[in-house]
This record gives sequence, structure tokens and C-alpha cells, in this order.
Amino acid sequence: MAVLHYIHMRDSIRRQQIESGKTSARRRARIVLWSLPVLAALGLGVWLYGVNRHVDTVIAATEERTSQATIAFDELLPTLVQRRIDRENAENEAVRELVYQRTLDGYTTPPTLTNSRCNYLTSHDDPSAIDVLVSKKNCLIPLGYEPTTKTVYGATLQTEAADAYKQMIDAATADGYSIAATSSYRSYASQVSTYRYWLNYSGREEADAYSAYPGYSEHQTGLAADLGTPGCALGCFGRSAAYTWMNENAYKYGFIERYSDGEEAVTGYSYEPWHWRYVGIDTATEYRKSGATTLEEFWGTS
Ligand code: DAL
Ligand code: ZN
Repeated sequence: MAVLHYIHMRDSIRRQQIESGKTSARRRARIVLWSLPVLAALGLGVWLYGVNRHVDTVIAATEERTSQATIAFDELLPTLVQRRIDRENAENEAVRELVYQRTLDGYTTPPTLTNSRCNYLTSHDDPSAIDVLVSKKNCLIPLGYEPTTKTVYGATLQTEAADAYKQMIDAATADGYSIAATSSYRSYASQVSTYRYWLNYSGREEADAYSAYPGYSEHQTGLAADLGTPGCALGCFGRSAAYTWMNENAYKYGFIERYSDGEEAVTGYSYEPWHWRYVGIDTATEYRKSGATTLEEFWGTS
């Protein structure tokens, strides 16, 4: 009896143990099951935080690099600009040298040249306009430019300038002054001859002070005339009464003295009291009122 009771008790305890074992296994499984998404969510959170931090670092580094590059570029800019100016000046000099060599070689027929690098202007650069600026730095584009001309009283000038010239000479004559052009329109080819003449006559330095390279002369636009009075031309004209009349009246007909005394540094040429340039009545009047002595100064160009 006692044995049977023992066996029964033992079996009962074992069953309870098995039951309770099953229960704790289920609990563990449930805990594991529930903790998986929580752990996954936590992991995802940590990963997203890490990614976010990394993106922030990359952005900050890029911004830093960009700002350093901007500072470096800003510092470099003046050097780059200067380098460009130097290069353009060198190219310009090369073109001038080429023209000079061709002049020495005795070209009489102008080659068809177009060169935009000897003209730095963005305005006053139309060779057919009466406000064109032609100087040692600013050539005609094209270099072989030819205006439409008309000849009056022995002067060949661009048609509008020729009409104005006629009125001016008529007015001077009426006031008792005899004024005539010793030179007016000169083609590229004749400027080659003119420059070569001065080169042979007085050497390069003098030639450059008074004579323009072909393609660089106001005479080639038909807007300039060299004036004289009987028995007196060039420097002598500057000491004549006719010159005084021109100084007082030329602006009324649209003409100005182009190469004023003491302005060589600006115009590139020595004083030429004989060289008069047509710019139109409005501009000539404004020019006179302004007190300017060079077109470069008046137009704010160089
Ligand atoms: N004498 C002026 C500068 C010319 O040759 O155009
Ligand atoms: Zn002249």
C-alpha cells in the first residue's frame, strides 16, 4: 500500500514538473518573441542615428571644403585677372609687332586682317559710327575697314564728316581764314606708306609718337583731317590764327582737337594741333562744355 502510494505521489510530482516545465518554456518563448521586434526597433534606431550623424559629418566637411575653395578662389581672382590682362597685352603686342614687321617688309597691299584682340572696347568700337574710339590700344575691326567717303574742298572724309567739314571751311573763309586739309581719309594701304615714311624719316620712336599703325588710325575711318593754312602745316598750324579760329569754332561743326598738348600718356600720341576729329555737333559741344581734353577721358575709355 505504501509502495503504491509512493508510486502515485512520484508520478503526480513528475506530471507537475512536466506541466510546469512546459509553462516556463512557453513563457521563455513568448519573452523571446516579444523582445525580437523591440530589439529590431532599437537596432534600427541606433542605425538611423549613426547614418544621420554620418550624413551631418559629410555635409559639414563638404561645406568646409567649399568655403575654403571660395576663399582660395577669391584670393586667386586678382592674379587670374592680371594674368589674363598680361596675356591679352602680350597678344596685342604680338599683333602690333606683326603689323610693324609687315610695314618694314614693305607691304603695299593690305592683307585682309581681322583681329578682335587689339580692341578692348565694348562700346565706341563700331568703325562706321561717328563715336568710334581708335587708339594704340583699340584698332579698327576689321583692320582693313573702309568707310563711305566723299571729297569736299580737296578733303576726302566719311560722308557726314565731309558735309560738316564743308560748312566749317565755309564759315572760316567767311571769317577771313584760309584752312585746308593736308591729309584726310587714308586707307590701310596708305597708312602703311605714311607710317613707313615717318619710320624712314625719323626712326621708330618718333614715328610711333606721331603716326599710327595701319588699322589703328582715325584717318582710316574718314573722321579725321590734318589741317593747314597757307605756308604753314603740322606744328606751325598750332601757332597760326587759323588754329585759334578752329579752337573757338570747330565744335559748332562737330570737330574737336584729338591729340591735345600734354596728353600723350592718355592718347598715346604727341601734341598734334593739326589733327582734327569729327565726332558730331552734340558730342563736340558736350566735350567742350565738360572741359575734357581727350576722348578717352570724355567717354571713360582707355
Ligand atoms: N597722326 C595720327 C596719330 C595717325 O597717324 O592716325
Ligand atoms: Zn592726323
